[in-house]
Amino acid sequence: MAILEILEVPDQRLKQVSVPVEKFDDELRTLVSDMFETMYDAPGIGLAAIQVGVPLRVLVIDLQPDDPDAEPVACDHDGHHHHHTPTKREPRVFINPEILDPSEDLRLYQEGCLSVPEIYAEVERPARIRARWQDLDGKVHEEEMDDLMATCLQHEMDHLEGILFIDHLSRLKRGIALKKLEKLRKYA
Ligand code: NI
Repeated sequence: MAILEILEVPDQRLKQVSVPVEKFDDELRTLVSDMFETMYDAPGIGLAAIQVGVPLRVLVIDLQPDDPDAEPVACDHDGHHHHHTPTKREPRVFINPEILDPSEDLRLYQEGCLSVPEIYAEVERPARIRARWQDLDGKVHEEEMDDLMATCLQHEMDHLEGILFIDHLSRLKRGIALKKLEKLRKYA
């Protein structure tokens, strides 16, 4: 496994349209495990392959970013030792994902992106979707999604079309966000 470099705006590679995966081989498995390691290290809850420079329709998501390898926290405020076990990881892989039946009602969610560091903005997307995708063996899955999972999958799927969440903002708001990022980088 390896931690890969995450591309950031204004890297033009982020605007590429990714191509479908055709070979479900060891190379794909290595890419996916490297993507998970990179995402957990960042840390983030979703990552598209193009964000590490690979223009393939591959996404990884884990809405539970806590590190289960972290030392359990011991506390003894009532005289007993409790070990707080961090949330379990829930890694999910989506290959060649598609969205079916997006709901008409929308949901506003504050989004961020590892390729647009430190910038958060509200984006409106369908509240519920049905998603179809393939797993690492090429097997097809379908599932109804809502809430953060629906938002996150749609955000990651945008990456496959070369679209960033800031592209959903008005030109004015996008300009403000990019200027803020420029400033943060200057003083980093
Ligand atoms: Ni993103």
